[in-house]
Formats: sequence, C-alpha cells, structure tokens
Amino acid sequence: MKRTTLIAAIGLSISMSAGAGEMAFSGPDSVDYSKALWSALGGAKLVGAPSMNPKPYKGVHPHGAVLTTATSSVEVNGHSGKVIVKKNYGGEGVSVDAVAKDPAKYLKAVTVMFQREDGYDSDNQNWFWAKYKADGGLHTNGKGMMLAGRVAKGKPKGCIACHTAAPGGDYIYTN
Ligand code: HEC
Repeated sequence: MKRTTLIAAIGLSISMSAGAGEMAFSGPDSVDYSKALWSALGGAKLVGAPSMNPKPYKGVHPHGAVLTTATSSVEVNGHSGKVIVKKNYGGEGVSVDAVAKDPAKYLKAVTVMFQREDGYDSDNQNWFWAKYKADGGLHTNGKGMMLAGRVAKGKPKGCIACHTAAPGGDYIYTN
C-alpha cells in the first residue's frame, strides 16, 4: 500500500517536472508541432521555394538587418489560426536591394508566431513561437534548447518577454 503510494508520488513528480519544462520552454511536443507548422507554411507558400516574398525593409534588433513580414492563416493538426511569418535576412553585403534580388542568399532565420487553440498558453494569447532555419530546422538558444513552443515563458528575455512589450497588448509589433 505504502509502496504504491510512494511510486505513484514519484511518477507524479516526474511527469510534473516534465510538464513544467515544456511549459517554460520547448520540448519534444513543441518540436513535432514546429514541423507540422512548417509544412503548413510550405503548403501556403509562406516558406520554402518557391514562396511569396513580400517587400523587404530595414530591420531592427534582435531580428535581422533586413526583414519581411507576412500575415496569414494556416491549419495545423485541425486547428486554424492566425500566423505571422517574419523572414530575417543578414550576412555580408545585405541590403534591402540585395535581398529583393536574391532572398535565399541572405535568409538567416524565419521567426513565426502562430495562434494556437484556446488553453495552449492562455497567459500569452495562445501564441506558439518558433525560430526556424532556412531549411525548416530549428535554431537553438545559447543553452542548446530548440526555439519552439512557449519561448521562453516566465523568463526575463526571449520571444514572449519582449513581445509582451509590443504596443496594443496583442504581442504584435508590426500593426
Ligand atoms: C528583444 C525583443 C524581441 C525578441 C527577443 C523577439 N522579438 Fe520578435 N519582434 C521584435 C520587434 C521589435 C519586432 C518588429 C520588427 C519589425 O520592424 O518588423 C518583432 C517582430 C516579430 C514578428 C512579426 C510580428 C510582429 O510582432 O511584428 C514575429 C513573427 C516575431 N517577431 C517572432 C519572434 C520570435 C519567434 C522570437 C523568439 C525566437 C522573437 N520574435 C523574439 C522584438 C523581439
């Protein structure tokens, strides 16, 4: 009897700590979800080749030297939501004109906000955050954590912390 309770308690604390990790940051579920989202974005021609390339403009830190922003809506695992795709361009010789001529050459990262189903992250308007490489793989932070999911919930820096400061209280800067 006692033994079972103990085992159950251990099981519970393990699953709780895994849950907390996933809450704070990315985890396997978020990585899987980022793949499903990337393929939905590809289907909508928002990423990959050929994809729509909106007019580039001079960017601001921490996103690239040159940026494009596209807003649309896509369906992921049966949920359809608003998506904002920001392409971040950089590298030697980068300029608005250079990117307009050859976007693929300068594409460093694709940062995405996708509004997931209610309850995904009610504290933060259910945004799913991801920072992709040009090929759809994920960028990692300094500690090797994949940048996908509730990034970095509860931390003083990162996607959520900085976007919380966006005017209008909707986490979106480019309104
Ligand atoms: C230090 C602040 C800061 C951090 C950290 C940050 N962003 Fe942003 N983000 C901005 C600013 C400022 C803009 C507007 C840039 C522009 O002029 O297009 C922006 C724009 C965006 C946009 C376009 C929608 C909008 O808000 O205008 C997306 C998508 C985005 N960021 C995703 C991310 C993701 C994903 C991360 C984390 C990997 C992240 N951002 C981290 C400041 C930040």
